[in-house]
Amino acid sequence: MTLPPPHSSPGPLPRFPADFLWGVSTSAQQIEGAVDEDGRGRSAWDAFTAVPGRVKDGTDSAVATDHYHRYREDVALLAELGAGAYRFSVSWPRVLPDGTGRVNAAGLDFYDRLVDELLAAGVQPLPTLYHWDTPQPLEEAGGWLVRDTAHAFAAYADVVAARLGDRVPRWITLNEPAEVTLLGYGLGVHAPGRQLLFDALPAAHHQLLGHGLALQALRARGADSVGIANSHGPTWPASETAADRDAADLYDLLLNRLFADPLLLGRYPDEELAALLPGPVADDLKLISQPLDWYGINYYQPTRVGAPDPATPTTDFGGIPLPPELPFAPREITGRPRTAFGWPVVPEALTELLTAFRDRYGAALPPIVITENGCSYDGVEDPERIAFLDAHLRALHDAMAAGVDVRGYFVWSLLDNFEWAEGYAQRFGLVHVDHETLTRTPKASFHWLRDALRAQR
Ligand code: NOJ
Repeated sequence: MTLPPPHSSPGPLPRFPADFLWGVSTSAQQIEGAVDEDGRGRSAWDAFTAVPGRVKDGTDSAVATDHYHRYREDVALLAELGAGAYRFSVSWPRVLPDGTGRVNAAGLDFYDRLVDELLAAGVQPLPTLYHWDTPQPLEEAGGWLVRDTAHAFAAYADVVAARLGDRVPRWITLNEPAEVTLLGYGLGVHAPGRQLLFDALPAAHHQLLGHGLALQALRARGADSVGIANSHGPTWPASETAADRDAADLYDLLLNRLFADPLLLGRYPDEELAALLPGPVADDLKLISQPLDWYGINYYQPTRVGAPDPATPTTDFGGIPLPPELPFAPREITGRPRTAFGWPVVPEALTELLTAFRDRYGAALPPIVITENGCSYDGVEDPERIAFLDAHLRALHDAMAAGVDVRGYFVWSLLDNFEWAEGYAQRFGLVHVDHETLTRTPKASFHWLRDALRAQR
């Protein structure tokens, strides 16, 4: 499988199953704005972006795409696209401004209106309960480093499910707990900006516990389609030396097994690492490994990893410089096109990832949904995004032809939005957003995807 050159017309996609779920994804902190409206509390990302130097272009998400006020227009775009489903996130501090206790009725009302608007447009809602916007009072009490946050999360899940559960068919508990742990608590380049390196690991365990407790709460409210969205990508050793292989193995463990093994196998992948967790964890693992209805994967790129070596230049980590004391060092993947973010475009690594997942987890693996895949490119004419999506869908189809059970695919993202520490500089949308006027303009890739989805019907 090769990547079509950017300006060619790649031809029709292979056929996907008739009941395949096609959608797009967003998250609350990245699109809603209205951070001070209708009783919303402060999030850890509001606090983080208020510190000068945290976000590259000095922006914050106070307005973002103003989706809070423009959601009707955005749902109309979803309908025009022909999306079968829409993955959005519920803002925890909008629903529970203090993180626990007092429910903000006006905050819940917003998601109620959004869900009704989606259903009226024929688009299935797929809410994510946690996409990184921890209520700041909870963050100040320790955030995911403390066990209480897991219980607070489950109580919040119950509040949301009680309100929306009659109309919402599917749920996602957490988004990318690996990034929260590594980037937020380990390296400090995301909220809450802690630089704990391996002492960040309790944040991994408490998010997993929060997932398990929230899953219980959702089940008690009758939910029968619950998943989680984890980021994964193949890890390639920089060379065959033992040092490079060990470094790559550690990186692979953190990205691909630290969360998937407890969820799917009921155990942590490594004893040395488990010793850094707030034990005893045996009972927690029973909760964490309750059966999932499907497993969500966010895929962007593979990573080439070697042992740190002062003589070999390391690349940064998706725009993030890594501290030299880490025992692994990402290395450049050469000979590949790159997105505007500098990420290598390697579609066949998605096939590799999915088949490796099936081989590792076997019967323990529920059906997979690709909960995010996409790329950052500038411009309303975006042939590179068309080529990227086309090639990744073919790679996905290859994995399915090889027997991997995949039930859906969600593009990140509907709109250009607040890309965390990158601010507004990286544009992942199918729809261009003018961040001055907030005008939405569907890109060429939007029209391409609309036509591709029509052809699947
Ligand atoms: C994964 C995250 O879930 C999402 O919030 C982010 O914008 C995309 N990756 C792109 O970096």
